[in-house]
Amino acid sequence: MTAAFARYDLRGRTALVTGAGGLLGRQHVAALVEAGARVVVSDIGSAQADATIAAVKTVTPSADLVPIVIDVTSPTSVGTAGDDLTGRGIMVDILVNNAAIDPKVTSSPGVMHSSRFEAFPVPQWQTEIAVGLTGAMLCSQVFGGAMARRGRGVILNIASDLGVIAPDQRLYRQADIVRDEEQPVKPVTYSVIKHGLIGLTKYLATYWADQGVRVNAISPGGVFNHQDPAFVERLTRLIPMGRMAQVDEYRAAIQFLCSDASSYMTGQNMIMDGGRSVW
Ligand SMILES: NC(=O)c1ccc[n+]([C@@H]2O[C@H](COP(=O)([O-])OP(=O)(O)OC[C@H]3O[C@@H](n4cnc5c(N)ncnc54)[C@H](O)[C@@H]3O)[C@@H](O)[C@H]2O)c1
Repeated sequence: MTAAFARYDLRGRTALVTGAGGLLGRQHVAALVEAGARVVVSDIGSAQADATIAAVKTVTPSADLVPIVIDVTSPTSVGTAGDDLTGRGIMVDILVNNAAIDPKVTSSPGVMHSSRFEAFPVPQWQTEIAVGLTGAMLCSQVFGGAMARRGRGVILNIASDLGVIAPDQRLYRQADIVRDEEQPVKPVTYSVIKHGLIGLTKYLATYWADQGVRVNAISPGGVFNHQDPAFVERLTRLIPMGRMAQVDEYRAAIQFLCSDASSYMTGQNMIMDGGRSVW
């Protein structure tokens, strides 16, 4: 590592990524490994964590990866994982709160679409908030609390461009559905969770500022993942750079925000959205 990048060096540090089996979680793990960190790869099931470990090891066979099952909605699961890691001498220096539920909504002709605000089911509200928001709170309690006691650490919350702007519901319209109330929308939970994560970021950044724990958020724009071409076309018209993100384009930001390269930054939300939120 050249002198210019010395502050990005994560050798000797341990990071924990929640929801690490998903599309971006795998990228976060790879980014942290690239900077030299040992990474605790956690997801709700071992299959998801193992898949990420296998993929990262294909590129970096020497990667130091520790699989663990954590259901971020469960205080018991998060607490047990914390005890388990501590018992094995593994102290988490960096927590990436990334887990989320991406609800699959299906259309039923003749009834109001369940994603619409007027019909949004309370159990779905509770489930999604439990993962995206309560999960980040619980993991911060356990792992951030331990960091504060040790006097050093970093928390990074994965928010979204929809943590700073409202969803443009025209993006989600389906041409073959005539009645407005049958049209799917981006659910209210997504906005609430992502705005909430930015609030949690500011709260914890000030709460632990004098205990050496820095807390920031990153708000990525949409990642191209072979979505419906009509959706992609509509979305890219809203993005000054004229395209969605490539899946690996947030890696350098993760390295910056999780390392001493960002040592004087806390309570901030780094927006990386191809310019969408400034248009
Ligand atoms: N993909 C994008 O375009 C995009 C854009 C902006 C922000 N984000 C945010 O980035 C993060 C990752 O997104 P993604 O696209 O990789 O999502 P994803 O759905 O691919 O991955 C989410 C992961 O969270 C896990 N998870 C779900 N419930 C859990 C629980 N109770 N406990 C632990 N893990 C659980 C899932 O198993 C999955 O592996 C999310 O917070 C998402 O909102 C994504």
